[in-house]
Amino acid sequence: LSAADKTNVKNVFAKIGGQADEYGADALERMFTTYPQTKTYFPHFDLAKGSAQVKGHGKKVAGALIEAVNHIDDLAGALSKLSDLHAQKPRVDPVNFKLLGQCFLVVVATRNPSLLTPEVHASLDKFLCAVGTVLTAKYR
Ligand code: HEM
Repeated sequence: LSAADKTNVKNVFAKIGGQADEYGADALERMFTTYPQTKTYFPHFDLAKGSAQVKGHGKKVAGALIEAVNHIDDLAGALSKLSDLHAQKPRVDPVNFKLLGQCFLVVVATRNPSLLTPEVHASLDKFLCAVGTVLTAKYR
């Protein structure tokens, strides 16, 4: 991520602010609908639209993304525990991180169209890919 990418990503999250939880939940809901195969990782969840579990999980995902933005120069350190978790218990196929990243981008685009200039889109995409890379770095 270049210095400009980091600034763009920080600006996006500053704009999203307190709505980040909703963005997280919307991105999950969109992922489960658009890519139903992702539901197989959540057999223990109620995945109905507006479910409290999806909202709760959206909040956790958003919290992790905010933590990553706050430590954008040390993503591996900031996401170390989550990286362990995703490599162990869910053992999510890495392709799914791209799907969730795409869904998050679409949520930003639909909720906040003016924010997502092509440059910001590119920076946010790079950031979400970098997060996915860290979260799948400990698979063996
Ligand atoms: C758990 C973040 C991508 C499947 C979690 C938790 C967080 C998180 C914060 C909760 C950890 C805890 O309870 O301590 C993220 C982030 C992602 C990402 C930031 C990428 C941007 C994915 C993807 C999948 C997935 C793509 C599968 C399609 C799971 C599962 C759990 C989990 C199954 C455990 C849920 C539970 O039983 O409560 N993730 N995640 N994650 N994640 Fe992810």
